[in-house]
Amino acid sequence: MCGIVGILGTHEVAPLLVESLKRLEYRGYDSAGIATVNDGHLDRRRAVGKLVNLSDLLVHEPLAGKAGIGHTRWATHGAPAVRNAHPHRSGRVSVVHNGIIENFRELRAWLAEQGLSHESDTDTETVAILANHFLAEGATPEEAVELTLARLHGAYALLFLFEGQEDLMIAARKGSPLAIGHGDGEMYVGSDAIALAPLTSRITYLEEGDWAVVTRAGASIKDSAGRLANRPAKTIQIDSAQVDKAGHRHFMAKEIAEQPSRLTGALDHYVGEDGAIRLPGPGIDFSTMDRLTMVACGTASYACYVAKYWFEQLAGLPVDIDVASEFRYREPPIPPRTTALFVSQSGETADTLAALRYCRDKAERIVSVVNVAESSIARESDLALPILAGPEIGVASTKAFSCQLLVLGLLALEAGRQRGRLDGAGFAEKVEALRALPGLINHTLSLTEDAGRIAAQLAEARDILFLGRGRMFPLALEGALKLKEISYIHAEAYASGELKHGPIALVDKAVPVIVMAPHDELFDKTVSNMQEVMARGGPVLLITDRDGAKAAGHGVWETLVLPDVAPLWAPILYAVPAQLLAYHTAIAKGTDVDQPRNLAKSVTVE
Ligand code: F6R
Repeated sequence: MCGIVGILGTHEVAPLLVESLKRLEYRGYDSAGIATVNDGHLDRRRAVGKLVNLSDLLVHEPLAGKAGIGHTRWATHGAPAVRNAHPHRSGRVSVVHNGIIENFRELRAWLAEQGLSHESDTDTETVAILANHFLAEGATPEEAVELTLARLHGAYALLFLFEGQEDLMIAARKGSPLAIGHGDGEMYVGSDAIALAPLTSRITYLEEGDWAVVTRAGASIKDSAGRLANRPAKTIQIDSAQVDKAGHRHFMAKEIAEQPSRLTGALDHYVGEDGAIRLPGPGIDFSTMDRLTMVACGTASYACYVAKYWFEQLAGLPVDIDVASEFRYREPPIPPRTTALFVSQSGETADTLAALRYCRDKAERIVSVVNVAESSIARESDLALPILAGPEIGVASTKAFSCQLLVLGLLALEAGRQRGRLDGAGFAEKVEALRALPGLINHTLSLTEDAGRIAAQLAEARDILFLGRGRMFPLALEGALKLKEISYIHAEAYASGELKHGPIALVDKAVPVIVMAPHDELFDKTVSNMQEVMARGGPVLLITDRDGAKAAGHGVWETLVLPDVAPLWAPILYAVPAQLLAYHTAIAKGTDVDQPRNLAKSVTVE
């Protein structure tokens, strides 16, 4: 979603702002802009589309100044158009915003009564007009922001810049994260630490409700009650190389290829030399747990659906799962002795965070499985388990998915051990099988050429179906999501046994059907469903192993043969061909792989 950056620098800031915005491109955006204050005057440049358009504009119409703010906008209120792009300006105030001001219509009406009109369709301009209104009434910038914040309902990260103030930015956080960076005689503000990585590694995260007056001398932070708040700076480790493509054409390609090393790192972190699973602090007591409630969105929710099979089969632990946007409004009862588990790559997804807060006083314990260790979801959990995937920049989640699965798989094993369902030998054997995964994924990555060849044909299709059974059903869902989000081809996934209850009507020779079927206990049943497709002329791509290809590879359109894997952990391995197919199909279609249209990496609005 929208990216924010601000710099109080010692040199011209326009190029640095654009550079920092580039590092926020991964969040998804459709317009961008910057504002600076120079010789006391506020000015701004804004452009629709990619940042290159803003850079071009700045070549023709440069923007001087050593203090500035910048923004990448993911449209919510108002179409992607220059008049709606941030920074918004009213008189002496310029502002950038991530989030939604829910009461902006009432505020707009009230401002109209004061004779103050809007130029844009956005909720953000209302914030600028309000702040400028208070300035005009004689408030100082700090007072104007305080008065403005008191009028706002909704979720926001806001950053203000003022005419005549070259050593001042004011930042505010409610619902959407903001980080303050400390430099040498310079200060920065960013939506996340990645934006600021080349500038500084010393970061202060604003807490919920905080607002900060930032000057080159430092930041003075107040909490939501208006008290001065002491928020210590941390040194974070995001080296610039981690957010490079490292020679790959796209971040997504790099992130797919990185999976063996990321999984190895996570295994080393969580599995001791004695083969025991190590969790931080007091760990998790699964033995007295009655129920696990898992909540997430999108790809992260599919990781939960796979894990449900693991927790139920390995530990006999009942699991409820819901997508966060439904869960939060359903008011689900949370029985005693329930642990609520939230899975999120970004740790900032608004719906998942709201669901966590709903469970706060109801569940016995809040556990999260996150990639961004400093995120809101991690910080608001009783126990946060990092997946250690490293920064994920491609909008389509790949390595975060496999690392989420790995951590959830380890938790399911630990639950099985604690609940007496797994004896020492069974536990050790399954841990060993997990350890084999990085090597197996390495082999699977060599299928990239085959995936490219098949994808060239998939790219011609208008609709594609994915089928899987048992643990492979959520994988089918993930395969379909990956494909549609980056290639824009309509794809649906079904539990293969469900096909004949309706979706089989879609099958014809123009609809490729991708069947994910390792040679496991459900293989024969999946193959029967696959035969039903073939009998109706549907071209089948069978993703399986050697035995599976031998048993059922005749007469299919294409086969992708993966190495043998312990059936339990097959979803982790089979995620890779799904990613490769989506990636190569997108390449064949010429879409924007890393920043697909309409999508945002970190979904910080409802
Ligand atoms: C799909 C994808 C999304 C995210 C979802 C949740 O490739 O990335 O479906 O999985 O938006 O995001 P996080 O995990 O950050 O909560």
